[in-house]
Amino acid sequence: MKKRITVLSGDGIGREIVPQAIRVLESIGQTFGHQFEFQHAQIGGEAIDATGYPLPPETLERAKSADAVLLGAVGGPKWEGLEYERRPERALLGIREQLGLFANLRPAKIYSPLIGASTLKPEVIEGIDVLVVRELTGGIYFGKPKGIEATATGHRGFNTEVYTTEEIRRIAEVAFQAARKRRKLVTSIDKANVLESSELWRREVIAVHKHYPDVELRHMYVDNCAMQLVRYPKQFDVIVTTNMFGDILSDEAAMLTGSIGMLPSASVGSTVGMYEPIHGSAPDIAGKNLANPIGTIASAAMMLVYAFDLTKEASVIEEAIKKTLEQGYRTKDIESLGTTLVGTKEMTDHILQNLSNG
Ligand code: IPM
Ligand code: MG
Repeated sequence: MKKRITVLSGDGIGREIVPQAIRVLESIGQTFGHQFEFQHAQIGGEAIDATGYPLPPETLERAKSADAVLLGAVGGPKWEGLEYERRPERALLGIREQLGLFANLRPAKIYSPLIGASTLKPEVIEGIDVLVVRELTGGIYFGKPKGIEATATGHRGFNTEVYTTEEIRRIAEVAFQAARKRRKLVTSIDKANVLESSELWRREVIAVHKHYPDVELRHMYVDNCAMQLVRYPKQFDVIVTTNMFGDILSDEAAMLTGSIGMLPSASVGSTVGMYEPIHGSAPDIAGKNLANPIGTIASAAMMLVYAFDLTKEASVIEEAIKKTLEQGYRTKDIESLGTTLVGTKEMTDHILQNLSNG
């Protein structure tokens, strides 16, 4: 198989972790006889420095023409003072919108050697396996009107939470389809006791559910969900929710597993998909070989599954990650007593070693 991957390392630790994921993909390519071609492009702060724009047209073109996009992270203190439209984060929203990536899949699964790294009790988190399906191109992130305007006494800032039937139905489809391959339970998260957009959300999710009688559907208010995730996370299989609620709940779900540095994501829609760790650019540890590369390596594994249908290859990566953790190697974020502290590059060295022995 021959595939073209557009690589957007971005800022901060993105520049350290993405090359590690590329090493893993190259090793998989060699073992299984696939050819992965990597084409780099600038995004976020580095793109602002080079061109003045966080998402230059050339980057977008390269993303659109690829078979898949691998992204690191964007942002940092250097660009925080910029006006809103010029900030690195806008590049993420822009590329999601332009590629039509309406479904963001964020699995939170516990690796058993890491149970001790969670802040929650082992009996609460043992065996959790949650998939957050976050709507990614609608809701309050994109709704209009939005802005800041002057009033007689100061200013008025506003955004609009808006969802259409089509937007809700297509994300619900993704959730039910995913649940079919898992434990067949979808929990839809909304705030239907207060918001009209949530009332419609619930109504449409129920309508789509009629086509999935084999999947159980539950509804939960977002505040309750935030509580239930730390109280009894094992009750969840697939969580489907809006852009804003999904942003918040996926961070919470991630932390159940010990470190946000471990978790991958896939953003998919009608065309090319984008794969990235769910953590940010972590400027405080950037350039020190401290970052955990596993979230990005696992994102590359998700790419193999969702973009290229290479499930065997992906599970080989998953196994190598697991084995490396079992051997006791830890980056700083997941270090605990009796483990061996390693850097970004060394963690990948061990994963590569386990790949070739696996
Ligand atoms: C995420 C991030 C982004 C979001 C930011 C950086 C724009 O928090 O991917 O979860 O809010 O979607
Ligand atoms: Mg977020």
